[in-house]
This record gives sequence, structure tokens and C-alpha cells, in this order.
Amino acid sequence: SPACKRSLSTDADGIDKVAVIGAGQMGIGISYVAAKTAGVDVLISDRSAQQITKGLQFVDTLLGKEVKKGKMNNEEANRVRSRIKAASENGLQDGEFAEVDLVVEAVSENLAVKQTIFSQLATHLPPHAILASNTSSISLSTLAASAIDQKTGQSRARQVVGFHFFNPVPVMKLVELIPALQTDPSVLDTARGFAERMGKTVTQSADTPGFISNRLLMPFINEAIIALETGVATKEDIDTTLKLGMNHPMGPLTLADFIGLDTCLSIMEVLMRETGDSKYRPSVLLGRMVSAGYLGKKSGQGFYTYTARPPPPPQ
Ligand code: 3HC
Repeated sequence: SPACKRSLSTDADGIDKVAVIGAGQMGIGISYVAAKTAGVDVLISDRSAQQITKGLQFVDTLLGKEVKKGKMNNEEANRVRSRIKAASENGLQDGEFAEVDLVVEAVSENLAVKQTIFSQLATHLPPHAILASNTSSISLSTLAASAIDQKTGQSRARQVVGFHFFNPVPVMKLVELIPALQTDPSVLDTARGFAERMGKTVTQSADTPGFISNRLLMPFINEAIIALETGVATKEDIDTTLKLGMNHPMGPLTLADFIGLDTCLSIMEVLMRETGDSKYRPSVLLGRMVSAGYLGKKSGQGFYTYTARPPPPPQ
């Protein structure tokens, strides 16, 4: 039984093994901190094996830096690294996730994809497992409704919770915790405790569009883009004003490039659609940038040009 599993565990919260779905920037960051700070085993899954390989190389880089800075010795770094394992392609169906206590879904912001994943997780994860999502704007109550075990028809909505991390996950100290309408209070408590084990401070938000963070951040970024497109100032002057005038680590246009302009647009669209309030209307320029494939740092071109990767060819 779930209770039995909990009492057998080494940690009071019963979480020894975590699965992360999605080996993108967020998924890798979450895996790294779970293994390093919370000290749990991590199983990382992605539809692209190449993406996992790339992610694990990044983990090696991060651990290498820790050793170089003297924050960790080689032995500790190897121990952390050995806790993170790649799931095989059909791992979920093949029982590889049978020991997982908590899963964090961290795939891109696409409702249909996330719903499919929640239905698969509800079907294949052990009965006690907590199903968390790193969504930045999708309703947890909606995701919870799709957590139905396909074999028994049973709903696992009570075990679903929002677990919203910030980029870069190893540096940012916050996790926003979002209960779905269906979430069991004990699941919420366990998730909170685990975020704390990961060294994070937790805030709690109702299941409303954008939660606390993106409800405030995205209109701010969007307003900076409107200031740029209406000729209020240059991009450099907009960013410098916020950076030096308000002590933000990055100006809003740099931050938008860092987050990804597609992500910013998709969150504004959720805010707009779900509230119907025109104050959340995405700027025309933001939409055009995304259409052009100028997605920010990850594509090499956003409001600024990044030399690490060439910009995409014109379509
Ligand atoms: N992974 C791990 N560590 C990283 C990292 C990464 N991707 N990027 C930077 N770091 C570490 C560096 O190693 C360094 O560590 P050290 O102090 O131990 O040497 C430390 O962070 C500082 O890095 P740098 O000196 O290279 O650069 P900065 O001082 O400029 O810091 C920054 C970089 C932390 C990204 C800082 O500019 C910042 O805080 N920016 C704002 C980030 C932000 O607002 N994030 C939230 C985005 S919104 C979001 O994620 C929610 C979503 O729903 C949209």
C-alpha cells in the first residue's frame, strides 16, 4: 500500500526516487538539483535520446565547475552523477518507473502533450507516486483531470500538483507550488517538503493563469516589448533602465531572450485567453519575432544576437 511504501523509505517524506520527464533546460536543472541537493536517485526521460545525452553532458559540466571551485570533491561529484540515469525509450511501459515516488513533468508548454503524459504516468507509476508538473501557465486542475489510469479507469487527480521552477534551476531559489482543485492536502505537504529538500523556498499560488510569477512577469516583459515597438527607447536603453534603475539582474528584453520568446508568447496567450482581459494582449512584435523563428538565446537570435549558434536561415 502507499502507506507501507512510505514507512519503508529512508527519508521521512518517502521520496527516494524521482523521475523527470523532459531533458530540456528545466528538466536537466531539476534532475541536477534533485540528485545533488536532495540526494535522490533520478530517472530522466525524453522522447529524444540525443536530448538526454546532451543534458547529461551539461550535468557533467556543472559538476566539473563545482569541483573546480572547490565546492565538491571528485568523489562527491561522481556520486551525484551516478544517481542520474537515463530512462530507456519504453521505460514507462517496461516497468522501469516502478520505484518512482515523485515525477516532475517538464516538457514544453503544450496542453495536449502534457495531457497525454499525465494519462501515461497515471497508468504506469506506482499507486503512491506524486505527479508534479513544472508548467508555467497551464491549469493544474485541467492536467489533474487527465491523470486517469488507462487500465483501471481510476482517477489519480488527487496526486497531481504544480511544481514551478525558475531558470536556471540550480541558481534560482524559488519553487512555486500550485494545488489543483483536486489535490490532496497531504500531497501538497509532501511536495512542499521535497522542494525544501532541494534547497528551495516555496510560495503557494492558486491555480489561476500564470500563477503569481508569470501573471506579474509576463505583462512586464510584454510592456517592455511594446515600449520598444512604439519607439519609446532603444532596446539597450530599456534594459539598462531596469537593470541599473531597479537593480534587476537582467533587463526585460534580455530576460525575454533568456526565457525564450515562444514561451513568453505562449504564456501571454494563456493569460489573454483565460481572463479575456485586453491588458494581457501580446505585443504584435513579440508574435512576429516568434513567427520569424527569432526565439531568443536558444535560436541564436532574439532582441539580441547570440554568437554561440548561428541564427536560423530565413524561411
Ligand atoms: N546552470 C547552473 N548554474 C548557472 C547557470 C546555469 N544555466 N547559469 C549561471 N549559473 C551560475 C554560475 O555558475 C555562477 O555561479 P557561481 O556564483 O557559483 O560562480 C552564478 O550562476 C552566476 O552566474 P554568472 O556570474 O555567469 O552570471 P550572472 O551573475 O549574470 O547570473 C543569472 C546569471 C543567474 C542568470 C542572472 O543573470 C539572473 O538571475 N537573471 C535573471 C534570471 C531570471 O529571472 N530567471 C527567471 C526566469 S522566469 C522563469 O524561469 C519562469 C518561466 O515560467 C518563464
